[in-house]
Amino acid sequence: MRLNWLNPPDATPAPTLNDLLAVGVHYERLEVGSTGAQASLDALKSARGYIVQDEVQLTPTTENLEQICDKFKEEHLHTEDEVRFVLDGDGVFEIRAADERWLRVFVESGDLLVVPANLYHRFFLTDRKHIHCARLFKDPAGWVAHYRDVPACV
Ligand code: LAC
Ligand code: NI
Repeated sequence: MRLNWLNPPDATPAPTLNDLLAVGVHYERLEVGSTGAQASLDALKSARGYIVQDEVQLTPTTENLEQICDKFKEEHLHTEDEVRFVLDGDGVFEIRAADERWLRVFVESGDLLVVPANLYHRFFLTDRKHIHCARLFKDPAGWVAHYRDVPACV
């Protein structure tokens, strides 16, 4: 995991885990494929009430990859936590910090990130266009993105 401010990327002081904590983002480093990693996911499930675990994968050959990425790249929030444990590949979350600046979080294999409910964020693949994640949910039916500043329909 690597953290930096989006604009400018070298703004000082550089962001730390405390900037993630300040907006309720939880981060852990786990060893992919280990029993310990699953035990940590299980602990998170019982502590926070997640009941479903699944996997999602995007690759350069994923059908409609561009449309999928177009949705993720717009600023949005969810009414439940977004829990992603990166099994392979990489990606970039941009998360609104406490002062509304964009906090850029590069995640790769072994990174577990929990973006809390109601926190604005967006997501991008890197040039590799590959990420494979385990996800935890409270309600698999309820995975809905609420976009920020969407103009009213006429
Ligand atoms: C999502 C992420 C990618 O909503 O923000 O699934
Ligand atoms: Ni999201």
